[in-house]
Formats: sequence, structure tokens, C-alpha cells
Amino acid sequence: MRRPPIISPSMLSADFARLGEEARAIEAAGADWLHVDVMDGHFVPNLTIGPNVVKALRPHVSIPFDVHLMIAPVDPYLEAFREAGADIITIHPEAGPHLNRSLKRIRELGAKAGVAFNPSTPPEAIEWMLDEIDLVLVMSINPGFGGQSFMDSQLRKIERLRQMIDAGGYDIFVEVDGGVTPETGPRCLAAGADALVAGTAVFKGGPAAYEANIRALRAG
Ligand code: DX5
Ligand code: ZN
Repeated sequence: MRRPPIISPSMLSADFARLGEEARAIEAAGADWLHVDVMDGHFVPNLTIGPNVVKALRPHVSIPFDVHLMIAPVDPYLEAFREAGADIITIHPEAGPHLNRSLKRIRELGAKAGVAFNPSTPPEAIEWMLDEIDLVLVMSINPGFGGQSFMDSQLRKIERLRQMIDAGGYDIFVEVDGGVTPETGPRCLAAGADALVAGTAVFKGGPAAYEANIRALRAG
């Protein structure tokens, strides 16, 4: 039995001069989680925010913080993001030498552990550690920027991951990130996703439109 889809708006598309206010508006509009994209200008060609900003944002909302780390090395920063209030910490296998060790560390810190797949990362990257994972994040774009077009090729990866998870009876969220809209979202859900990240599709039209934008994604 599949749970209702989780909608996790990406703060990357928010007004960065009003982050607290934007987070509150997103929660009030019905978001389930808040997706926070952390970029280092090295692992991905863009720079965003660090743990201090996550910490400042945390008291503004009570929904879980879904923190997507696009930084390398990632290990030295796990504790800081957990202390800043991250509930889910998602890392890329390419961001450190020992994915299994990093995932264990995230759980030790008391957060849920996620693994993000670049478009070229094979689903088998997690085959031998499914019991160490709470979430998989399928990137349907190359990470770094919002507003890119959804890559259809990643639908098969969503299907494959869903098969691996269900075959083993694991309780792991399958989340999709990049180019998710009311058109592409339902295709992700049909392929086996149960959580959708969306930046552009949620924030377009400004705060007055957030609720309708989230509803449109959920309707899929
Ligand atoms: C990009 C980020 C995404 C991004 C998605 O690297 O991981 O979360 O904000 O933005 P949209 O929904 O505009 O593709
Ligand atoms: Zn993201």
C-alpha cells in the first residue's frame, strides 16, 4: 500500500532576502517537508547556504527539514547540519569515500539517511546497504540549479529503485528532484515515487499561489 505523496518544496526558488517568511508561507500552504539545497561551488557549480542559515530558518516552521547536501567532502559537515535542525540528511555517493560509513553516521546523529542519485549514478550503488537507508533521491536533472527540464530517462531508475525496495520489504521513501511539475510529477508517482521536490513549480506566482501550486502537485 502506497502512502499519499509527500510534497517537499525546494527553498532554492524562494526569495533569499526573506527566507523565514517564505518558509512559513510554504508550511501554511500545505507542504509536508521543506527541501533545503546545500551547494559548495565545487561538487556542483553553484553556491547556496551553510548550517548557520539552516539553523536560523529552523524555528520558523515545524515540518521536517529535508536537507540535500551537494558538497564534497560531506562527512565533516554532517554533525553541523544535524545540529542546525536537519531531520533528513541526503548525500551523494560521489561526495565521500565510504557511503556506508557516512549513512551510519547520519543515523547515529539521529537523522534519517538519504542517498541522492545523479542522472549517471546507477541504482545498484545502494544494493548492499538498503537496510541503512531511509530515503533515495532520484535527480531528474544535473544538480546545481533550479528551473531545468525533467529528464525522462530517470523514470526507469525510479521504477528500478522501487522494485529493489519492495522486493526486500524495506521502508524507504523514493523522492524525485528536478523539473517536477503537475505534468511530470504524476509520471514519477506512477513509476513508484512517493515524495516530490519542486522549486519552480511551487514558488511561481508568489506567496498567493503557493497553496494552489502545492495542491496541483499533490493532485497527480
Ligand atoms: C537542484 C536542486 C533542486 C532544485 C529543483 O540541484 O537539488 O532541489 O531546487 O528545482 P526545480 O524544481 O526548479 O527543478
Ligand atoms: Zn535538491
